[in-house]
Amino acid sequence: MQSASDEESRRSLTVIVLAAGLGTRMKSKTPKVLHEVCGKPMIVWVNEAIEAIEADRTLVVLGDGVESVHQVLPQSTRVVMQERQLGTGDAVRAARAALGDFEGDILVMCGDTPLVTGEALRGLLKMHASSAPACTLMTVELADPSHYGRICRDDDGRVTQIIEHRDATEEQKKICEVNAGVYVFEAPALWEALAEVGIDNVQGEVYLTDVIGIMAGHGQVVLAHTDEDASVVLGVNSRLDLSVVTGIMRQRILEHHMLSGVTITDPASTYVESGVRIGRDTVIEPMTMLAGDTVIGEDCVIGPSTTMIDSSVDDGSTVVSSHLKGAEIAAGCRVGPFAYLRPGARLEAGAKAGTFVEIKNSLVGEGAKVPHLSYIGDAEIGAGTNIAAGNITANYDGENKHRTVIGSNVNTGADTVFVAPVEVGDNAMTGAGSVITGDVPAGSLGIARSRQRNIDGYAGRKSQKSRGGDED
Ligand code: UD1
Ligand code: MG
Repeated sequence: MQSASDEESRRSLTVIVLAAGLGTRMKSKTPKVLHEVCGKPMIVWVNEAIEAIEADRTLVVLGDGVESVHQVLPQSTRVVMQERQLGTGDAVRAARAALGDFEGDILVMCGDTPLVTGEALRGLLKMHASSAPACTLMTVELADPSHYGRICRDDDGRVTQIIEHRDATEEQKKICEVNAGVYVFEAPALWEALAEVGIDNVQGEVYLTDVIGIMAGHGQVVLAHTDEDASVVLGVNSRLDLSVVTGIMRQRILEHHMLSGVTITDPASTYVESGVRIGRDTVIEPMTMLAGDTVIGEDCVIGPSTTMIDSSVDDGSTVVSSHLKGAEIAAGCRVGPFAYLRPGARLEAGAKAGTFVEIKNSLVGEGAKVPHLSYIGDAEIGAGTNIAAGNITANYDGENKHRTVIGSNVNTGADTVFVAPVEVGDNAMTGAGSVITGDVPAGSLGIARSRQRNIDGYAGRKSQKSRGGDED
């Protein structure tokens, strides 16, 4: 028989995501599936896997107190409420009315298994499409299968039932093939079998897994697709599970970057969230965290010990031991060590923000430098300007923020304070230690400090006096 392509043989597909559980073991005010894994709520990871298989529609089953989950999902996701959590079978029943007399395939999965990939789902759907079983379920082999439902097969290898860990005999507990909690059902067969499920089990719950035994008992075909990546089964029930899942996801993300041409010197101490983009030949040094909507160009060196959140760095820049949030760094810039660049900080090409420098909502022009010990807030610094050590823009008068505008090719003196609003023209200078309260015209020197006075012989007299004191 000639096998049809995936597309041709695919029947209409509806996905049901079970996520009504409160997740009590998380001990959290936040619904379980909203806890983040590498920068994304776990149900959003699940949704991305679903998007990869292009289902016709997605329903998510939610319970009391977890309605907010809907906000992170696409508008097109339909929410179905399960009034009381009577078990996974009951959760699927809750979705029935919303599906009417739908006769296509139904993919059921859980909202708390963020490691499931589109690829794994495609493998399952492919097997389901290859014949016409009542159900195809995803299984994995685990060295330690405890807590999971076990797959029971007959002598010919056919799936006969799923037995939950708590209901299993000692013999059944030895089975290492477990239920991943992801199934494709033919809709009419699912509803028919689900109607027969009771609550005769240790937990007194309506188990979706009982459907498998019922179908097999009726002589219907149940297939199992064993995924080679055992991590797809890992569900999150506690913060401990969350850390395990996060560790695996983190490794996946790092591997993706390394395979795309990024050097990660020490993956064990590097954290890169899912939305981050990094260009080729960039080196990420140890103890670095890249989060949110962060974009890094090619040939950059980031780290060691650097945090970048929602920030961008263009080609050939270096950022050492620094903290950046909402900052924008153009090409060929140098940042750090120990710089703190806050929202709205923008360095133009070849600019520098050096040691113990804080910059907020300010533009540092092309090739301009702020090398040491300065606070630059609500300011504009022109191209080629050098800000000497210890300059401060006094931008806040207690009520409002004001701007400091410094032209291009300006040389400020060490320890200059600019009391905003104030402007310094192009090619101007300021004297060291000046408190600049008025504008400095282009090409001028602004100096604002008291004149030095020398007192003849004072130091000698003082030291004589103190020596006399010592003899008493
Ligand atoms: C379930 C399977 C088990 C499988 C495991 C894989 C059953 C009976 N057992 O066990 O065979 O190995 O998943 O992870 O299905 N939920 C609801 N409403 C409810 C109960 C649960 O929406 O009334 C949701 C939960 O929010 C969760 C999912 O269904 O997202 C799975 O429920 P959970 O209680 O975690 O089932 P497991 O014990 O993990
Ligand atoms: Mg679970």
